[in-house]
Amino acid sequence: MSDPGFPDWRARIDAALARALPDPDASPRRLHAAMRHATLQGGKRMRPLLVYASGRLFGAGMESLDDAALAVELIHAYSLVHDDLPCMDDDALRRGQPTVHVAFDEATAVLAGDALQTLAFERLARAPLDADTRIDLVRQLAEASGAAGMCGGQALDLDATGNGGGISLDGLKRLHALKTGALIRTSVRMGALCAKADAGQRVALDRFADALGLAFQVRDDILDIESDSATLGKTAGKDQAQAKATFPALIGMVASRCLLSDLAAMMDEALSEFGDDAAPLAALGRLAIERDR
Ligand code: IPE
Ligand code: IPE
Ligand code: MG
Ligand code: MG
Ligand code: MG
Repeated sequence: MSDPGFPDWRARIDAALARALPDPDASPRRLHAAMRHATLQGGKRMRPLLVYASGRLFGAGMESLDDAALAVELIHAYSLVHDDLPCMDDDALRRGQPTVHVAFDEATAVLAGDALQTLAFERLARAPLDADTRIDLVRQLAEASGAAGMCGGQALDLDATGNGGGISLDGLKRLHALKTGALIRTSVRMGALCAKADAGQRVALDRFADALGLAFQVRDDILDIESDSATLGKTAGKDQAQAKATFPALIGMVASRCLLSDLAAMMDEALSEFGDDAAPLAALGRLAIERDR
């Protein structure tokens, strides 16, 4: 992977996760172990990095961003645990480790996902911020995670799976915008909310985040075809095997790469008004497009 250069922020979120998750030696141990397995085994931490980069752009202190960063990564981890279940993508490998239902069992994986999700909202409710900001963060993350966001997108993904390419281009864009884009958009928004960025600034950030969210999933679809399981830490080639609705399947690899270039230009344009201060966000945008895992 090209070096995004965020070692301090990654170490910060890793440490915050380890502190926030329930004690592995306390009962119910199996549930706590499964939650930690789902969360502490690596991962690029793209969403918390976006919270930090967006908040810092508007001068927020790191302490005021930690709970939002933590919460979005907890929701992401839960979404992966459930995405991997036999009733969804039926995947055995995640972040180079057995998936939670393989390492533990299906019921524990369902509960671990549920408990990661509720821990995310508990953290936001307790964040050291004023009450209005906490309520905004809770609403923001709830909308992005639920039927109008990630869960809705996962439902569209399941509907489209095995559908013989029956989905339209607009339909696939909407699917990706919900299943992956919503949490990415909300990561950028939560950083801006913690920093009290004004509405005009948030419009430009939304344009950036929407392009990044789509690029992130298009790159994911490309890597599923072009990479290997050892590099990805998850089983390569699954999308075609399961007849998933993906960009390479619908428009081909060449057009998918062109789309990534277009999205890179859209990200640059959206960030242009912020000048050099937006360098960390711009680097995360490039990472979404250039990553190899
Ligand atoms: C995987 O997300 C699921 C998608 C939305 C494509 P990531 O690629 O961010 O997974 P980790 O967190 O780095 O493992
Ligand atoms: C998952 O998309 C998006 C989520 C909401 C978890 P994928 O099913 O493509 O993610 P991977 O490839 O399993 O990581
Ligand atoms: Mg999936
Ligand atoms: Mg999957
Ligand atoms: Mg995928």
